[in-house]
Amino acid sequence: MAARASRTPSLRLCRVFCPPPWPAAHSTKQGLSHPIKGTTVPFVHRRFQSGHGTPGGTGGGNDYQLGPSQEVQPQPNTQSWGESGQHEEDFRSHNKQRHDWRQTAYRMLESAATTGASLAILGLAGFGYHKYYKNVVLQKINNAFEPGDPVLELAAAGRGSTSVVPGGTEKEWIVRPEQDKIDKVVAGETNGHYYLLLGEKGCGKTSMILDAMQKVDGLGIAMMECHADLEIFRIRLGKALDFEFHEDYIGSLFSIRGPRDTTALLDIERAFNKLEKVALKRKRRTGQPLVLIFNSMHLLRDDEDGLDLIELLQQRAEAWAATGLCTVLFCSDDYIVYEKLKHYASRMELITVQDLPKDMAISALRRYRAKHHANQDTEGDLERIYQLVGGRLSYLSRVAQASNMEAKANEIIENEERWLLTNCGLLGEGQDDDVNEYSKFASAAMVLCRALVAMEDKVEGGTYNEDRGWKLPQVPLHIAREIMTRADFIHRYDVCPI
Ligand SMILES: Nc1ncnc2c1ncn2[C@@H]1O[C@H](COP(=O)(O)OP(=O)(O)OP(=O)(O)O)[C@@H](O)[C@H]1O
Ligand SMILES: [Mg+2]
Repeated sequence: MAARASRTPSLRLCRVFCPPPWPAAHSTKQGLSHPIKGTTVPFVHRRFQSGHGTPGGTGGGNDYQLGPSQEVQPQPNTQSWGESGQHEEDFRSHNKQRHDWRQTAYRMLESAATTGASLAILGLAGFGYHKYYKNVVLQKINNAFEPGDPVLELAAAGRGSTSVVPGGTEKEWIVRPEQDKIDKVVAGETNGHYYLLLGEKGCGKTSMILDAMQKVDGLGIAMMECHADLEIFRIRLGKALDFEFHEDYIGSLFSIRGPRDTTALLDIERAFNKLEKVALKRKRRTGQPLVLIFNSMHLLRDDEDGLDLIELLQQRAEAWAATGLCTVLFCSDDYIVYEKLKHYASRMELITVQDLPKDMAISALRRYRAKHHANQDTEGDLERIYQLVGGRLSYLSRVAQASNMEAKANEIIENEERWLLTNCGLLGEGQDDDVNEYSKFASAAMVLCRALVAMEDKVEGGTYNEDRGWKLPQVPLHIAREIMTRADFIHRYDVCPI
């Protein structure tokens, strides 16, 4: 107690104003012990200030005072105000304690109420944000199907015009026989099916789709390029649908396991769930299905992940075709995609794109030349070029841009021949044992080539005819496998592409 007293301001003041005549004293329970004589010096308890120590007096603990503060209990041997003072002090301390408890309880209640109110507001704000966010997500996906499409803008910018049609006018554009069908599919006029557009590299598949999209200004259409990596596929799908996969959702900050702790395949599934909701609303409003185009499907890997993705896409395509919510159009250069899809296909329709027939190929060449090198060629020149490169649009457009068409055509033939020999050239008799697998692959290709060349004589009217142009010998897939006595190589030739 005396130790407490020694820390109170009043005692410190006491030391300042009345320095003891003896050296520093030790405090004991009874008072201060004299360091020299070992005697105890009692505290002076009487207040020398107005109000202190007298009942009904005024003043407070902060008043300057000589002697110990109010907290100090009088010692039995030094008590100077008697029993009534003791009672009063007890009563006051009891009252003070009760008052303190009440205040504490009140404060606890107050802070509990404040915390509760803050949490309620936070919860409401969070719930509101969540609802708002979900709406915005659907709104953004819906906007992705409104007129105008980044794919169209990109294609037009690449051609330096406002149109995806080369040259920006109908003049240079050949209307392919398949265009009508593609127009209907892309405009969402077909129902109950999904489509696989299959054709050799550079035969004009993408151009046909872009042309069809442009005719309806991309209304109700989203298009994306496939990729072997599922993460990149996921990002491209997100871009096409304007869906962020909840990566911009603030709520994920409070979640231990955020929505991004997932696989690309799950994200793709989530995107399709959202798309389905939008498609349902649009179907009710416009009565037309959305159109989703997956270009370059052949780029998906032929491994477990790739097959899982194809299965997921096909399941959705089947379900949406059945309900008329969304028409899916797959586009591929390789036949293998057809084989993969064929397993579970019940509503799939195949659209094959072939090289142009002679009259259309020469017409395309003439139009290209009119744009790049007008009035330079005779009809005979154009026919000779067709004889060299055939009706493949990518070759025709490349040849047409060159000043010397024939040289360019021969260069293309040479490159293709080299490509064939690089991939399937025979190594000769001195080949090493280590290359056995390659040798089988190359020799099977050469066996097939020889069989096709041998069939040229059997083509009705010859392989080249002035009226109809080229007609190359063809064999069905199973016969080709029979000729090669290998079933697996044909896919690799297709992928090469040979
Ligand atoms: N209808 C057409 N009229 C004129 N030129 C065309 C037409 N269609 C395509 N082309 C030209 O043919 C070339 C190849 O076209 P496109 O890229 O559309 O073919 P693709 O089949 O999609 O090729 P890939 O398999 O490489 O994707 C392009 O240069 C394009 O300008
Ligand atoms: Mg293409």
